[in-house]
Amino acid sequence: MKVTLSTDPPLKVTTDLLAVGVADGQQGRDPLVKAIDKASQGSLKKQIRLEKFEGKDGQVLKATPGGVKAKQVLLVGLGDQSSTVAAARTLAVRAASVSQSYGTIAIAPPSEAPDVVRGVVSGAFLGAYRFTRYLTGDRVPSKSLSTVKLLVDKRTPELREAVQAGVALGESVNHARDLTNAPPNDMNPPALADFAKAQAKDLGIQCKVWDKKGVQKLGMNLLLAVNRGSAVEPRFIHMTYKPKGVKDAPKVAFVGKGITFDAGGLCLKPPKSMLDMKCDMSGAAVTIGVVLAAARLGLPVEVHGLVGSTENMTGDEAYRPGDVFTSLDGKTVEIINTDAEGRLVLADALAYGRELGLDCMVDHATLTGACMVALGPWTAGLFTDDEELAERYATAGAVEGESYWRLPLEKALREMLESEVADLKHTGERHGGSITAALFLREFVGDTPWIHLDIAGPAFQDRPHGYSGKGGTGFGVMTGVRFLESLVAVDEEE
Ligand code: BES
Ligand code: MN
Ligand code: ZN
Repeated sequence: MKVTLSTDPPLKVTTDLLAVGVADGQQGRDPLVKAIDKASQGSLKKQIRLEKFEGKDGQVLKATPGGVKAKQVLLVGLGDQSSTVAAARTLAVRAASVSQSYGTIAIAPPSEAPDVVRGVVSGAFLGAYRFTRYLTGDRVPSKSLSTVKLLVDKRTPELREAVQAGVALGESVNHARDLTNAPPNDMNPPALADFAKAQAKDLGIQCKVWDKKGVQKLGMNLLLAVNRGSAVEPRFIHMTYKPKGVKDAPKVAFVGKGITFDAGGLCLKPPKSMLDMKCDMSGAAVTIGVVLAAARLGLPVEVHGLVGSTENMTGDEAYRPGDVFTSLDGKTVEIINTDAEGRLVLADALAYGRELGLDCMVDHATLTGACMVALGPWTAGLFTDDEELAERYATAGAVEGESYWRLPLEKALREMLESEVADLKHTGERHGGSITAALFLREFVGDTPWIHLDIAGPAFQDRPHGYSGKGGTGFGVMTGVRFLESLVAVDEEE
């Protein structure tokens, strides 16, 4: 898909579809809507009234008003926050998703602020996304959206840069979606590592991968414990992006859960809960996506991506409840439920990360069903002891239109992890399940400021919602990038 900046006037642009955002209640006042209506001799307003289009968030109206060069016009309701990055992105997501098989669409952005333009461009990529790699014959879409024209007054270098950034961001999210959507027989730990390596090579950034022998040498015994039941080797991945010519850049690691399939191990999941468990490497997908996006955008931040990857299966050698293993940092861990595998893999990765001298670590994991019970399917749980980080991350999420809600690292629940036979049990009781998971992770981060994001809900959707269709969403990539940018933003008030 190609994105171009076009100075064609909206009424004159040749296109299959012209998309226009309309703020809440502005359907009668918006200057562009009025101009199109006039050209169509009142037919657009008639349809607006007929279909009760009021510019409400999420509302869309497709019309063929005539009098304009565009074959169709799409009005997209942007609600009462119509000039935000999130609203601009929503406009483009809707426009691109209704016109996936069109040749060209044109989008009139709600403003020409570079950030808004970047939001629109990334949104066009998100809306146009389809996972078609496994379709054959006439199921293969014959056409896909080829050109998006962004209608602006002036083509400035700043806007060109915003377009490039939007492409980089949108493609990084879509890469993360591809990784999550790929079936688990193909997207196994070696394949995940190969993807990271190939992408890193293209961008000229470092990517080190440890195979099973290497992981044994490192001493990641918790990752190896989970891997015991699998016929496929584990991988540990360390990607590094270092900005060129930047002194004293902040140093941040993203850490991801890379369970390419979670059968639950011996504590086997029931079939219904197992069905979507290819999504259990979404944390890894986001982690890789953020590192790649940071490199593509050339952010002045040193970004590390750490991924522990294995399947969680039931083979002869599978780990058992009651087993005790020693983590990378020397703590003994008593296994309680083999379906709580994610925190084990993360524990070793966090213990590895804390040796890197970081300013902070951010982990993403589809960690607990309990988090979805608490927050619903579209909101991630955010855990940290650091007030400033919590605020900064939540703000980044709000700007990008990804939903986070802070949950407490409740001290009182720590006793649920006390074990008779080892330093730690790895699960607590049913109630407070996402909190005890987070408390377990905290044991491994040392003094490094840390945020844990439980993305069990928003990583994978059973129906279209927000920026994404059914399946993998790439949730977290855009917020991660915005968070990194906030660390180096020049404060305007200073
Ligand atoms: N991968 C699952 C969590 C999950 C559930 C992610 C639903 C996405 C959708 C995780 O490994 C798991 O099985 N967690 C258990 C923990 C329990 C055994 C303490 C859970 O949530 O039931
Ligand atoms: Mn599990
Ligand atoms: Zn899992």
